Amino acid sequence: MSGFSADWLALREPADSRSRSRDLIDRAGAMLAQHTAPLVCDLGSGTGAGMRAFAPSFPKDTQWLLTDHDPETLAIAGAAKGVKTALADLSADPAPWPEACRLVTATALFDLAAPEWINKLADRLAEDKLPVLACLTYDGRLGFAPAMGGDAALSAAFNRHQRGDKGLGGPAAGPGAAVALARALSARGYKVQMEDSAWRLQAPRDTLLMKELIRGWSDAMKGLVGDEVAQRWCDMRLANTTRLTIGHTDIFATPPKG
Ligand SMILES: C[S@@+](CC[C@H](N)C(=O)[O-])C[C@H]1O[C@@H](n2cnc3c(N)ncnc32)[C@H](O)[C@@H]1O
Repeated sequence: MSGFSADWLALREPADSRSRSRDLIDRAGAMLAQHTAPLVCDLGSGTGAGMRAFAPSFPKDTQWLLTDHDPETLAIAGAAKGVKTALADLSADPAPWPEACRLVTATALFDLAAPEWINKLADRLAEDKLPVLACLTYDGRLGFAPAMGGDAALSAAFNRHQRGDKGLGGPAAGPGAAVALARALSARGYKVQMEDSAWRLQAPRDTLLMKELIRGWSDAMKGLVGDEVAQRWCDMRLANTTRLTIGHTDIFATPPKG
């Protein structure tokens, strides 16, 4: 599985939907219920997993605009009934929503973005007085069970890797993205609510996902810790991991009144 392929997004979707904050999604849904046929714009939607998770708590007449720069996953998202899609490169424009938009959503996106891009997004949200629901932003916490030598070094290298350039405005905020977004919105007068949305993976339910993550991390770490160290850690982890915690934060933020 590579990058953000449909296979990878499908593998992570059950863990994502277990982990998002229902409370914040319900609050966003209650806010949308004040409008008729409210339009929601999802950024970096992939195959539309965010919409599938939010829809049960959003008004039945919600209209969806799903945006991504990957035409393959967006075509899958667009196959759902009544859903509009737009091919959009967020690095060029963080605000691809139309004027009628009532809520901006995103899942597992903002940790890819540079702090300056996050500030630009916050500027555009504030200009349009739009609330935002940002789910599953990676926040730097990694926990492995049973604990083994090499975990701390791997975690530190992984968090350095997460701060590399992921194509959204330069070196990414990575594990600092949720705090950066919360601060940027607070500074613009938003009321910001944050909830823990960590993945708490366990064998055997999540074995496939855990193995895919471990392989992906060790491949990505080879350049940072050396091939041999990364491979040894990978082999030990594949053979032994029973639980894996990956920290995420959900944010629901509403603009100042007036
Ligand atoms: C981790 S995936 C999450 C996908 C989806 N939100 C979900 O929860 O399944 C990140 C998504 O952001 C999209 N993305 C990354 N960089 C982008 C950019 N510059 N412009 C638009 N979309 C981008 C990817 O194509 C991918 O679909």
